Amino acid sequence: MSKERFEELLTEFHRIPFEERQARLAKWCDLDPQELQILKGVNALPVETAEHFIENVVGVFPIPMGVATYFNIDGRDVFIPMAVEETSIIAAVSSTAKWLRKMNGKITTETRGNLIIGQIQIPRVGDVESAVQSLMARKIELIEQGNSIVPGLVARGGGVRDLLFRCLPREDGTGSMLVIHVMCDPCDAMGANLINQVCEGLKPEIEAITNEKVGLCILSNLVDGKLAYAKVEIEGIDPEVGYGIQEATQFAKSDPYRAATHNKGVLNGIDPILIATGNDWRAVEAGIHAYAARSGSYQPVTDWKFDGKKLVGEFLAPLAVGTVGGVTMLHPTARLSLKIMGVQNADGLARIAAAAGLVQNLGALKALATVGIVKGHMRLHAANLAMAAGASEDELPRLKEELSFVLTREKRISLSRAKEILEVIRSTTH
Ligand code: MEV
Repeated sequence: MSKERFEELLTEFHRIPFEERQARLAKWCDLDPQELQILKGVNALPVETAEHFIENVVGVFPIPMGVATYFNIDGRDVFIPMAVEETSIIAAVSSTAKWLRKMNGKITTETRGNLIIGQIQIPRVGDVESAVQSLMARKIELIEQGNSIVPGLVARGGGVRDLLFRCLPREDGTGSMLVIHVMCDPCDAMGANLINQVCEGLKPEIEAITNEKVGLCILSNLVDGKLAYAKVEIEGIDPEVGYGIQEATQFAKSDPYRAATHNKGVLNGIDPILIATGNDWRAVEAGIHAYAARSGSYQPVTDWKFDGKKLVGEFLAPLAVGTVGGVTMLHPTARLSLKIMGVQNADGLARIAAAAGLVQNLGALKALATVGIVKGHMRLHAANLAMAAGASEDELPRLKEELSFVLTREKRISLSRAKEILEVIRSTTH
């Protein structure tokens, strides 16, 4: 379908009734009625399936799933499914993507590297040099042995590629530890189980070669051998906005207190996609924060520069995600999320998540550098407050409208104010 057709489908997308919204999505993503039912929550995650995922299942936990609109990534129009409870996230990222589109902005992405890391630790090494030498001498054999543990992965074109050796001083001052990094291409899997199996499988051989005792065998979530990169370029914007966004990045670069919030804003765009696709968002979070702190000071994972004409934003961080393995293929909604994005592999998913994170960050910085975020947040928050105040379906539209008047007039709204207004509405309508 053409660009014009995509934009036509997006007209008033957040205002049209739910059924119409689903119908438009179905048209673009070729979804059948059963898939639309899954999106509605019917068999979205049957308890019988959930029983296979975790222990002690007593139910399932629904959260809203929406789609981010107006995204064109690497020249492809795409709906991005996001499962999230925070009111303003999808609205903000979609309106920022809409602004980018209107300004002929460009979003491009790539992945850099394809290797995840497994760590095999030798906690105490007498003679580090000779341990490393004996391991180096058997490196090819060890790689082959590692690959024999994951024949399925090797058949798919992945597997162990290299072993790296790191000598670290022990923090307690009692000598050195040796850490062996097993570098592995997990193909389209996130790869945690695969790499853990390889590391544990190599343990006896490594102990035999070094005559030392191996400690921990576990993947590292600081996946700096597999990074996702996204870039936004936009021209013709108000210089005040451009310089404001650049200045906001300076703040985050200078101050970890700000960098934490800056990165939270980036993750607002990433985590909901990971949740919608059944990915391990805790692993990605850990990786991104560790990567942000790799220089020794916690830094933003995006950078924005404005030269008076062009605003350029970049995101670079580990995004180890999978489209096979884990629950990605077993969770009906997660499978459907990949279909909605037309994603074929883990790289494709990581690239979309990187782009969404960067655009979400752009939206936050643009608001912060201009009108502030309270206005937009509060407008959306009004709906939550109206519900929390106890308004019925009939009362909701009126209460929301009243709350938005109050917001414009008083610049703030609260639950107690919503309750007061609801009482007035009730007293005047009965
Ligand atoms: C709120 O969820 C996210 C922001 O705080 C991000 C930021 O400050 O950059 C708005």
